[in-house]
Amino acid sequence: MLQRACGMDSRAFRLDPPSGVRWFDVDLPDVIALRRKLYSADDGYRTIAASVTDSGWLDEIPADRPTLILAEGLLRYLREAEVS
Ligand SMILES: C[S@@+](CC[C@H](N)C(=O)[O-])C[C@H]1O[C@@H](n2cnc3c(N)ncnc32)[C@H](O)[C@@H]1O
Repeated sequence: MLQRACGMDSRAFRLDPPSGVRWFDVDLPDVIALRRKLYSADDGYRTIAASVTDSGWLDEIPADRPTLILAEGLLRYLREAEVS
């Protein structure tokens, strides 16, 4: 599971996915810093502090399994060229 622009969304904890699921929440560094203060991590859960417009962090996402990607409320923050 890859949630881009996660904000303070707590879906990862509310859904409590099975242990085989790996969950990645991505947002800008100041948002991720706040998440790390308020939410505890577990084995299958990781946060990534980065802009979705940078590509380097994608290397951290496993490529050996299907991935569901969420991006709720993100597009309004991006320029057209950053979306295409
Ligand atoms: C309206 S909030 C949506 C949060 C969450 N997805 C939700 O539905 O509750 C938009 C989020 O997009 C994040 N955001 C904006 N531009 C971003 C970017 N370039 N890369 C990563 N996150 C970004 C903001 O930091 C903010 O947390």
